[in-house]
Amino acid sequence: MAAVTTNIEWLNRAYSAKGLSDLRTLYDEWASSYNTDLSRSDQDYVAPTLAAATVARYLESTPLNSVKILDAGCGTGLVGASLAKLGATDIDGVDLSPGMLDVARKTKAYKDLDPVDLSKPLTKDNDAYDVVTCIGTLTHAHVGPGVLSEFVRVTKKDGWIVATVLDDIWESVGYREVIEKLVEDKKVELVSADSGDYRRGAGVSARMVVLKVIA
Ligand SMILES: C[S@@+](CC[C@H](N)C(=O)[O-])C[C@H]1O[C@@H](n2cnc3c(N)ncnc32)[C@H](O)[C@@H]1O
Repeated sequence: MAAVTTNIEWLNRAYSAKGLSDLRTLYDEWASSYNTDLSRSDQDYVAPTLAAATVARYLESTPLNSVKILDAGCGTGLVGASLAKLGATDIDGVDLSPGMLDVARKTKAYKDLDPVDLSKPLTKDNDAYDVVTCIGTLTHAHVGPGVLSEFVRVTKKDGWIVATVLDDIWESVGYREVIEKLVEDKKVELVSADSGDYRRGAGVSARMVVLKVIA
């Protein structure tokens, strides 16, 4: 009988991946059980739902079906599906793993889904999106803070960036510093970076970073 990989083992492998090819292979293998694994009560991965609610809250009276959204590191589409439930109809997704993208495609929440390495510049136009989400992807051994300037570039003025950053790497990996520089350069306003539930069942919390693009 084939060995069963537990959800904790998947996460340990993900957080200690040795480069892009390792990560891509891991997520391609994990894709079919990812949603079930992270919805178990010992994980209770609430970040995608909380992120979608955060987007809706900051858009205030702007209806979700009137905005163009990029879900960066969309994985199996948990964020897109949550946004679609709240009314979003124009969502593109990008991710490193074709296997994760195949699962995301089945949600029917996305217009375009493309395999993309977020450590390289995005092949998207300036000011292409009203909102960029990046949930669960600014994490150990995944995508570093350098991507944030690309998110700013592709987001329209007065648009929003909503991203999670695990508490334990917020400072150590430089996310806070990069965001402070974007604020100093008057590219964004840091609206919020409160720490809250992420994998609630495992007691793991993360910053829910909300940036308003001002230039
Ligand atoms: C923990 S999952 C989060 C997926 C989804 N946003 C969610 O909340 O369920 C992390 C995702 O980041 C993607 N990823 C890791 N490194 C990446 C990179 N360099 N470029 C694009 N995506 C990457 C993985 O393929 C995986 O789907």
